[in-house]
Amino acid sequence: MKKIVTTTLLLASFFAFSQSKTIDQKVDALLKQMTLEEKIGQLNQYNDDSKATGPITVDNDKASQIRNGQVGSLLNCLGTERTRSWQKLAMESRLKIPLLFGQDVIHGYKTTFPVPLGEAASWDLEAIQKAARIAAVEASASGIHWTFAPMVDIARDPRWGRVMEGAGEDPYLGSLIAKARVIGFQGEKLGGIDAVMACVKHFAAYGAAVGGRDYNSVDMSERMLWEIYLPPFKAALDAGAATFMNSFNDLNGIPATGNKYLQRDILKGKWGFKGFVVSDWGSIGEMQNHGYAKDGKEAAYLAITAGSDMDMESRCYKNNLEALLKEKRIDIQLVDDAVKRILRKKFELGLFDDPYRFCNPEREKAALNNPEHTKAAREIGAKSIVLLKNDSNVLPLSKDTKTIAFIGPLVKEYKQNMGFWDVDLPGVDYEKLVVSQWDGLQNKVGKNTKLLYAKGCEIEGDNKDGFAEAVKIASQADVVIMSIGEKRDMSGEAKSRSNIHVPGVQEELVKAIQATGKPVVVLINTGRPLIFNYTADNVPAILYTWWLGTEAGNSIADVLFGDVNPGGKLPMTFPREVGQIPIYYNHFNTGRPAKNDTDLNYTSAYIDLSISPKFPFGFGLSYTTFQYSDLKLSKKKMKNNETIEVTANITNTGKYGGEEVVQLYLRDKFGSVVRPIKELKGFEKIKLNVGETKTVKFVIDNQKLSFYNDKLEFKSEPGDFDVMIGSSSEDIRLKEDFELLN
Ligand code: NOJ
Repeated sequence: MKKIVTTTLLLASFFAFSQSKTIDQKVDALLKQMTLEEKIGQLNQYNDDSKATGPITVDNDKASQIRNGQVGSLLNCLGTERTRSWQKLAMESRLKIPLLFGQDVIHGYKTTFPVPLGEAASWDLEAIQKAARIAAVEASASGIHWTFAPMVDIARDPRWGRVMEGAGEDPYLGSLIAKARVIGFQGEKLGGIDAVMACVKHFAAYGAAVGGRDYNSVDMSERMLWEIYLPPFKAALDAGAATFMNSFNDLNGIPATGNKYLQRDILKGKWGFKGFVVSDWGSIGEMQNHGYAKDGKEAAYLAITAGSDMDMESRCYKNNLEALLKEKRIDIQLVDDAVKRILRKKFELGLFDDPYRFCNPEREKAALNNPEHTKAAREIGAKSIVLLKNDSNVLPLSKDTKTIAFIGPLVKEYKQNMGFWDVDLPGVDYEKLVVSQWDGLQNKVGKNTKLLYAKGCEIEGDNKDGFAEAVKIASQADVVIMSIGEKRDMSGEAKSRSNIHVPGVQEELVKAIQATGKPVVVLINTGRPLIFNYTADNVPAILYTWWLGTEAGNSIADVLFGDVNPGGKLPMTFPREVGQIPIYYNHFNTGRPAKNDTDLNYTSAYIDLSISPKFPFGFGLSYTTFQYSDLKLSKKKMKNNETIEVTANITNTGKYGGEEVVQLYLRDKFGSVVRPIKELKGFEKIKLNVGETKTVKFVIDNQKLSFYNDKLEFKSEPGDFDVMIGSSSEDIRLKEDFELLN
């Protein structure tokens, strides 16, 4: 038996070896035939003419450039018909090297899932992977080879509009989600007919842009970089991510696009990344604005030297690499290495065998109209909703409620539910594709329930003309649901806000409706943590619904009426006011920590604002209640080659079945560098029926105890640790400690 297993393993590894060797040999053979112009062409990526996700440069001769082998990839080119027509031009080129079609498939292709930050609130890795899988099935059927996702930037600043694209503030949660998304997009293996290449972005530290202003500079310590910002990139790489995108920001004065330390030393060096790096849109050329490159030629030199393989839209490579080679400022091996990395992926995708393998219109039609995808979007949408408040158990609503008033500017919207970074397919009728919140409510309630509607106000602006009508409608109802928030494009790229309060007069509308004395449930639609203090302090029930995508209305109705018990938890800390930003749970203690929100006795506090967040990281309620008990540690002292098992019992003590995310936090009490007051090191999402108890087990090993020490080595240090098990980062239910021995 052992012999058979060994032989099979040997054969398998030989097969894998010869497979990769074959591709490498093919790449080398092709490279030998390529002219310099064709090589540079492979490094050149253009936007299609139909749609843009950045400042456009118009080339009137794009088609002839493709025929001449001067273009390696296109982005924003959608659908089998259009991708086929561009690919045909590439097939007319001398060496018939297929084009790669890249697209921002960020949270779904046609079937649209919650915005990534919202989806992260599900803490449901299986669901997150499934959403990415479905996105890949649809995108690959529609001509796309490559998605510019996942975005794995850690973000601690909700002013930054791009928080909506990531997984929030925590490196542990962020790493697991990064892995789930990469596996979801790429499927079993590149080369599968429904696999798209993932592109992990933005390398690196973009989430720490100063002041939360998009494209802004980043200045951070090495320790912060390694401990907080890099782990999700490494996790995505370990999950097999095919490509990386660099980033618009400078990091400690060096633009990421020209940053050799990031791309050559860390990514391609220390981490051994074999795929290719694409620049962000125009970011090679933008190094001139940064004041890092004096002209486009210098920018090309800096980027290729630093390890940026493909130039998205700046044309600096196309215009300058040849001259740089002639002048012997760069070696041809630098260009060859970049070309080989790109060609390898084209081979792995099977494009040399069949350049049109993603261009089958029948397959496209079936994939884009699959009811299973719709069902998944509804389920994942409901899982992403976070119940922030539920005083007097206003929720779930009874399906027999006689009269429900649904009020607010987002109730009857369709496209808004898609959030930013939807794919915006041409010719889509959003009123057919999206289930509005009004439609979702109608689908849910029976004939005996009367539904009333008033818009009340717009999302922005100060017009209160609709208030009186809304108050009148509310007065006629047994319960009022309000849908407020941002516009879909108020969080996203280039959508930083200095004021993250719910915009316009929406909270004043909430106040006017609350004054009717009716029970009020508020739905908050957005892509980021918002500030809504009036609502949070006065209204009995709040659901944070983010942007849920095509099935938004049904997902929301499922939760409102208890068909789904909400189990989402916040992946970011919610501030009380903008002045608290950046605010995050895993901070240091300082030498003068405040004992509580009112302790101002020469402590680290604000004299005009509490220091605690409005809602903490990991927070989210349920219609049921969970009791935590029986924390047990398998030992109280461990050596660093040992492990400790931590178990706790969780019981559903309420009236509904439900899901709970049981969170494990650790604190290293003393170190050669100071350590955070707590760090998430494990979580389990469990489902419990009424009265049911489950035992949750975590294993603490040396990896979980290690950190970047005073010499920047990733190591643990002997000493005392706290183990905390909780329902959020602040709601710690069980606590113990142990000692790590020498
Ligand atoms: C710029 C964005 O930063 C990046 O994330 C995106 O993939 C590209 N534009 C392409 O749209």
